[in-house]
Amino acid sequence: MLKIVESEFITSAVEKRQYPESPFLEIAFAGKSNVGKSSLINVLLNRKKIAKTSSTPGKTRLINFFKVRVIRYNEQQERIGEGFFSLVDLPGYGYAKVSKTEREKWKAMIKTYLESRPELRLLLLLVDIRHSADHKDKLMIEMLEAYQLPYIIIATKADKVPKTTINKYLKGLSREFGKDRGEFLAVSVLNKTGIKEMLEKLEETLF
Ligand code: GTP
Ligand code: MG
Repeated sequence: MLKIVESEFITSAVEKRQYPESPFLEIAFAGKSNVGKSSLINVLLNRKKIAKTSSTPGKTRLINFFKVRVIRYNEQQERIGEGFFSLVDLPGYGYAKVSKTEREKWKAMIKTYLESRPELRLLLLLVDIRHSADHKDKLMIEMLEAYQLPYIIIATKADKVPKTTINKYLKGLSREFGKDRGEFLAVSVLNKTGIKEMLEKLEETLF
């Protein structure tokens, strides 16, 4: 079991030369604007607003880097390890109200990040559980596969659909994306659905 015990904001970057040097493995969050990236990071890190959230989409226009300290426990609650990882909040893509040039800039920013971050070990691609597969999400998956980066698809805002229908929604997404149901995880920051499972994925990746 993984427990996040400390986290701090390191820096924001637009260009590659601004990325912090890091000795740690990295886990990144990506997805369309307003899908809930920053909210999920805050819940995961147990911090109210380390990542800025907003009801106005497109708030996070920078790549934000955080340093996170974790402790690992076994089933008997004995401490079996500890360490740090780096967590990245990527800017949301596909916000309709920004200009095409701005959208292109965002795309280039994400592409550069994916291409030039060897520390990156897992990308969490967030999609809204209620929305059908989007062209930009599919593009993102194509890029991840081209660079052979491990990823899981996180269906956010699971509290917005009846609990008994979550599996049906995930099956629908899995069909649309052409991915196994096992590559999807439903989460909610309101009722904490899926947070434990997400921590398990992080643990598998980091240890
Ligand atoms: P950008 O930074 O613009 O890319 O957006 P983001 O993906 O970081 O989204 P953010 O976390 O700012 O959340 C957007 C809105 O969705 C906010 O109003 C959140 O309160 C809401 N939200 C996020 N997660 C959940 C959730 O699990 N359930 C519900 N009901 N609302 C959520
Ligand atoms: Mg955000």
